[in-house]
Amino acid sequence: MRIRAFTIFFLLFLAVSSYGQEIDLPTDPLNGRIVFEEKKCIGCHAIGGYGGTAGPDLSREQYFGSVLELASIIWNHTPQMNRKFRQLRMDRPKLTENEMLDLLGFLYYLRYLGEPGSVANGKRLLDSKGCITCHSVAGQGGKVGPDFKTIQRYSAPLYMVQAMWNHGPAMQEQIKKGKTKYPILTGQDMVDVAAYLRQVSSADVEVRMSVGNPKKGRVLFEQKSCSNCHVGEGKRKRIESGLIKIDLKKGVTEVASAMWNHGQAMLQYMQQASIHWPRFQGNEMADIIAYIYFLGFEDHEGSDRRGGRVFGEKGCNSCHVKGGEGKGPDLASLKKLDSPVRMIQLMWNHAGDMEDLLITQNKRWPELSPEEMRDLYAYLRKMSKE
Ligand code: HEC
Ligand code: HEC
Ligand code: HEC
Ligand code: HEC
Repeated sequence: MRIRAFTIFFLLFLAVSSYGQEIDLPTDPLNGRIVFEEKKCIGCHAIGGYGGTAGPDLSREQYFGSVLELASIIWNHTPQMNRKFRQLRMDRPKLTENEMLDLLGFLYYLRYLGEPGSVANGKRLLDSKGCITCHSVAGQGGKVGPDFKTIQRYSAPLYMVQAMWNHGPAMQEQIKKGKTKYPILTGQDMVDVAAYLRQVSSADVEVRMSVGNPKKGRVLFEQKSCSNCHVGEGKRKRIESGLIKIDLKKGVTEVASAMWNHGQAMLQYMQQASIHWPRFQGNEMADIIAYIYFLGFEDHEGSDRRGGRVFGEKGCNSCHVKGGEGKGPDLASLKKLDSPVRMIQLMWNHAGDMEDLLITQNKRWPELSPEEMRDLYAYLRKMSKE
């Protein structure tokens, strides 16, 4: 019933303009790696042990925040970073808006890049999750599904997820016959299973999926009919109409697992709504997961009223004065501020001079919480020129 309603609403709401902005998505999260090196971040920050040691190794932290949450982290570290810049006699790199976006995308993606799987745990999981009741490894095990030794190619966990997803309905057909329960995968399970399957496979073609292009994923989200039941970004009206908002602030592996784990329920819904089970090929699964992953980039709306107060309390108005009489420009003359990434880019670029000025005035660095960043953004956006 609910699903019928979805479909009708979907058609209805195609006609209604959507609410909320599109998120800025990086095209390839790995571009950020290039910027990271070009701008010499790598000189102070290691990634997975490789790189400088003046700042923290950034692959140790998890950065799953929205753009403005990440912005807040970087902003608050400005004084410590600047001290190092001065010590090492380095120039503070200036960033363009695209470079900033790429860097934020890269930080967000870091954790995903180096997840090693445990082969031993993968082997155990095949048993405990019941895969082995249907599948065999070199002849040992069930005969319902293909033998993992003979599977032609996979190595990357996402490639395995794609294969599993595509075979989802057939697997579920067997599960209905009472073979075993639907295998739920949590935490690192997916990666561990992939590591094991990779080892037992006799295939010599190693297939790697590229990290996924979230912009392509956005298109696929429509094409593969996910948008019949889900909303990605914004579009509040469509959420109100009953579409399910995907809001997973999680790592790539967990996103992939969530999609798999809900496969059984989704298949039912799809059958009721006469939607064909969407299949993925090439890099598509990586793309769509990258898109879902980057949905966590979206910020909720701040309040321009509170933002105005933040602007005063944090001393921004001591330099940014109406009419431009202060040390900094009148921000009302700013070109229309239409993306949070541009705000953090402008703020990053001026953080060096700003700190120098604050030091001469013997003032503290104004830290900004994520909430304050959002409010500030709402305020500056409203204030900036149309
Ligand atoms: C001259 C050395 C230096 C350079 C170059 C540098 N940083 Fe930093 N960075 C630091 C230091 C020092 C800290 C702060 C450590 C602290 O607060 O304890 C820091 C902190 C950070 C943090 C917060 C880490 C945390 O605690 O979670 C991020 C994110 C970051 N830097 C990103 C960058 C990016 C992106 C670049 C390149 C555009 C860059 N840094 C360039 C020295 C540097
Ligand atoms: C109830 C039986 C059943 C269970 C349990 C099961 N599978 Fe499958 N699996 C199948 C069937 C049947 C196919 C082949 C479907 C087809 O031909 O379309 C398949 C296909 C696959 C494929 C695609 C193989 C290829 O050709 O690319 C992978 C990968 C896979 N399964 C992994 C797993 C993993 C990992 C588990 C445990 C977490 C699991 N399966 C549990 C029945 C099962
Ligand atoms: C016919 C409706 C329908 C379609 C089409 C559909 N889904 Fe879903 N999806 C659902 C429902 C319903 C749930 C919640 C299932 C549950 O409760 O287990 C869900 C859950 C999810 C989840 C888990 C969300 C969470 O918060 O844990 C993800 C991720 C997801 N879907 C991704 C997709 C993607 C990607 C597509 C397109 C390939 C898609 N879905 C297509 C109905 C659908
Ligand atoms: C100590 C003085 C000072 C303080 C305090 C200060 N700024 Fe600035 N700001 C400047 C100066 C000087 C410039 C222009 C020069 C530059 O870009 O380095 C500037 C430029 C900017 C710009 C870019 C304007 C443009 O047209 O490119 C933005 C946005 C900005 N500041 C926001 C803020 C916010 C938000 C705060 C409060 C958290 C703040 N500033 C606090 C001195 C300051």
